[in-house]
Amino acid sequence: ANVEATVSLSVDGVQRDVTVDTRTTLLDCLRDRLGVFSPKKGCDHGQCGSCTVLVDGRRIISCLSFAVMYDGATIVTADGLADGGLHPVQEAFIDADAFQCGYCTPGQVCSVVGMIDEAKGGHPSHATEDLDPDASAEPLTDDEIRERMSGNLCRCAAYPNILAAIRQVVGG
Ligand code: FES
Ligand code: FES
Repeated sequence: ANVEATVSLSVDGVQRDVTVDTRTTLLDCLRDRLGVFSPKKGCDHGQCGSCTVLVDGRRIISCLSFAVMYDGATIVTADGLADGGLHPVQEAFIDADAFQCGYCTPGQVCSVVGMIDEAKGGHPSHATEDLDPDASAEPLTDDEIRERMSGNLCRCAAYPNILAAIRQVVGG
């Protein structure tokens, strides 16, 4: 039998209540139920990162998460990052020409915002828990950035320019 639940989410600054089948992923909830289309469905299997959003400031793969897990959470997508003007990470992607088709870009941008917070020690990252926490004061190396962004694939292979955009934001 289907089981439904009502979740209350803040999505890009707007409070939304939605009743979903408990098996609904956060990605499908956002796109199909709430009409929030900046998170993209690339693989739907946790392999490409195009569905990355920020949940309470932490980047997550929304296709691998159930919406009901996030009752009461604050979700920010690439749409919400542009709050009264483009976010500095979005500006940097334009400056560095860091996209071609753009399909991966909303996820990339959210992931960069989350990564910068992780690098400052704001949120731990599963992918980087073996990195020296004391190293966070140092500028990220190119290899560290590549490692921390390795969950976000770009089929256009805009990686050098994505790295340049991130470098513009983090300095070094
Ligand atoms: Fe979620 Fe590919 S659509 S990781
Ligand atoms: Fe096309 Fe990344 S810009 S997939």
